Amino acid sequence: MLKKRLFCYVTFFFSVLFISACRAVSISPSRMPSALNPQGPGAARLAELWWVMLALGTLTYVLVLVLLFAAIRRRQRGTSATEPDSTGGDTGRPWVIWGGIVLPLVVIGIVFGHSIYTLATVDNQTENSAFKIEIFGRRWWWEVRYLDHGFSTANEIHIPVGVPVEIQLQSADVIHSFWVPELHGKMDLVPTRINKITIQADKAGVYRGECAEFCGLQHAHMGFMVVAESEADFNSWVSAQQQPAAAPTDEAAVAGQQVFFSAGCVYCHTVRGLDDKSVDRSAVDLGPDLTHLSSRLTIASGSLTQNRGNLAGWISDSQHIKPGNLMPNIYLNSQDLQNLLAYLETLR
Ligand code: CUA
Repeated sequence: MLKKRLFCYVTFFFSVLFISACRAVSISPSRMPSALNPQGPGAARLAELWWVMLALGTLTYVLVLVLLFAAIRRRQRGTSATEPDSTGGDTGRPWVIWGGIVLPLVVIGIVFGHSIYTLATVDNQTENSAFKIEIFGRRWWWEVRYLDHGFSTANEIHIPVGVPVEIQLQSADVIHSFWVPELHGKMDLVPTRINKITIQADKAGVYRGECAEFCGLQHAHMGFMVVAESEADFNSWVSAQQQPAAAPTDEAAVAGQQVFFSAGCVYCHTVRGLDDKSVDRSAVDLGPDLTHLSSRLTIASGSLTQNRGNLAGWISDSQHIKPGNLMPNIYLNSQDLQNLLAYLETLR
């Protein structure tokens, strides 16, 4: 009877663990990132700390279970711990000292020491970084400014493999949190403050990042990509991004550029090289820089793969895809929409 009940408790405990296993909301084309699959030195230190904490937690848990079983068996045999000791001594005291004071002190001491060491090694790298990137968290996308290279992009960060890069984090509205699980731990973006971290990827690849601080309705759709590539690929990406947008030559794209003006896109989105004196450039910062939109992997902050169909859906009904975002639905006839898409496709 007792064994059966114990079996039920143990099964219940483990089933709760499985039910509660959470999964990040993601509709990205990239695979699901895991902090336990570190691909950079920062994430490696944090994964190490995670395993140490898991090992200590498991040891403590097993020890408590063993003592619990021992106590139950002792009780079954007829000796009760609650009965006073016939010699008048206090048999419970060693348990209180070793189990209630010494063991917790040792476990918490190891976790505390290891956490401080991890924090110190993870955060003290900004002086080694090759260059700086400034990132502004906005509801709900990421503005990415390459300070040393002189251009801006959105929701996509390119870095060379094996090189530490300093990220300066700021917020334009509310608190966000920058997190690339496979490369580094979380760092908040706090209004009026600049927080810094260093990221580094040891292997080439595309690493998905997320906003890790609840920031409103579309918090779950505030993703981004970190593309780690060879030095040569990175340099050619940088020189392509530094170029202003080429003037469209195709008939549809030329007409599409006019739609870009007439539909009002130009009032919120910068396209470098687009010369329109009627637009106050200093006020153009509501939406992502679109100069090289078609070179990006995703649109809508990592929510959709970047392709013509998704772009058409986003322009026509972005409020259905990300309700509450600042981009209004743009009502265009099908010819204007196709022309606008043809123009956006030239922004490579
Ligand atoms: Cu930004 Cu959550």
